[in-house]
Amino acid sequence: VYNGNSFNNYPVDFSKFDKIIFDRLPEDLPDDPNDNADLFDLVNSFRQKASVPANFNNEINDLFGFISQRVTPKNLPEEIAYVKERINKDKKIENDTLINEFAGLRDSSDLKAFVQKLRLRKLNTALYSSLVCSLREIKTPEEMNLLRKSIEISSIAHAEVMKAIRPEMSELELQGMHEYIHKKYGAEWVGYPSIVGAGNNGCILHYEENTRTRVGTDMVLMDVGAEYHGYSADVTRTVPVSGKFTPRQKQIYDLVYQAQEAVFKLCREGTPFNQLNAKAKEVLADGLLTLGIIQDKKDVGIYYPHGCSHHLGLDVHDKSNYGDLKENMVITVEPGIYIPQNSSCDKKWWGIAVRIEDDVKIGKDSCELLSWAAPRKSEDVERKVAEKSILNEFDLPDLRPGKKAF
Ligand code: GLY
Ligand code: MN
Ligand code: MN
Repeated sequence: VYNGNSFNNYPVDFSKFDKIIFDRLPEDLPDDPNDNADLFDLVNSFRQKASVPANFNNEINDLFGFISQRVTPKNLPEEIAYVKERINKDKKIENDTLINEFAGLRDSSDLKAFVQKLRLRKLNTALYSSLVCSLREIKTPEEMNLLRKSIEISSIAHAEVMKAIRPEMSELELQGMHEYIHKKYGAEWVGYPSIVGAGNNGCILHYEENTRTRVGTDMVLMDVGAEYHGYSADVTRTVPVSGKFTPRQKQIYDLVYQAQEAVFKLCREGTPFNQLNAKAKEVLADGLLTLGIIQDKKDVGIYYPHGCSHHLGLDVHDKSNYGDLKENMVITVEPGIYIPQNSSCDKKWWGIAVRIEDDVKIGKDSCELLSWAAPRKSEDVERKVAEKSILNEFDLPDLRPGKKAF
C-alpha cells in the first residue's frame, strides 16, 4: 500500500507480470490542480505504469469477464443476442474488435478458442471482482466472531422492541429503541437505514422515512440491523402491536414462515444459490393461490416482488459470485408478502405486509440460525409482545405548551 506521492513513485515494474488484476478504474474524476497526488493523478500514474490503453473501458472489460466466466456452448446464442443488444446501445462497445468477434461467433466450437484469447489478456478487472467475491463470501473464524455479535445484538434488540411496542408509539421511536440497544452493546452503526413501517407502510420495500407518528394496532414491519466493527446484521420481524395477529394476518404470517422453513432446508453446501428464491416463490405461490389472493401461480411476483437471499458481511448485501452454497457462507433468508391498499384481490387482505428475515451460516449438511434470539414463530412473537419491558417506564417530561414534537 502506497499513499499519495509515494504511490506515484512506487518501484513496481508491471512489464514483468503476465497478468495485472485490478478493480474497475474510477472514471470522470475531477483533477485538483493544487494536488499532484489526488485520485485523478494516481489513476493516471497507474494507467501509465501498467500500460493501460487510452481506450480501456470498464464496461467492455466487464463484458469480457462475463463472457469468459458465464458463457457456455449451451447458452451461446442467447448470450450473443445479449451482447448484440449492448453493442447497439453503447458506441464504445460497438467499436471494440474483440466484442464484435464474439458477436460474430457462429458455433460453440469457436467459443473455446475465443475464451482462451480473453484469458490471455494481461489486464483483468473481471478476475479481480471474482477473486474478491470468493474471498468475501467465505467467512473466517475471526469474521464469524464479529458477525455473530452483530446479529445477536440486532436479534436481542428485536426481542426487546417486541416487549416494549405500544399503539401510541411512533415509527421513529421504535427505530430509536432498536438503535439505542445496538449502541448499548457497542455496535457503532446501523448496517443499513432502519425500516420501521406500520400497516400499509410495511408494503413500501425501502421505506426509510419512518414518519408515522402513531403505529396504532396494525402490524409493524421492522427491518433493522446493527453494524458491529464493520460487520452488518440484517434482521426483519413483523409484529402485531395489539399483541395478537388477526386470523388474516396470521394466515399470511404463517405462510411466510412456512416459506422460510422450506428455504432453510436447502441452506447447506452444494445448493445452487438461485434454488433458494425458486423454493420461496413456489411455497408463497401455492399459499397465495389457496387463499384466493392470486388466481395463477405466475402472479406471485405481484405480492412477493424481491429475492429471498443475499450474502452478509462487511456489507449488508455482501459481495459474492452467487454460485453454489459453500460451508461458512452467511446469507439471509427473507421471504415476504406485501398486499398494499387497492391491490387487485379481496380488500380484506389490503394493508397486510409481512417479511421475516433471518441470517444463517451455511454448513456441510444444514445451516445454523444466527438470529435465533429474535422470536420467529407467530405464537412466540405474540408471547414476547405480552412480556413487560423496562423501556415502557421511561417517562420524559412534556414539551412546553404549544411546542408539540409532532
Ligand atoms: N435490509 C436490506 C435487505 O433486507 O436486504
Ligand atoms: Mn436482506
Ligand atoms: Mn433486511
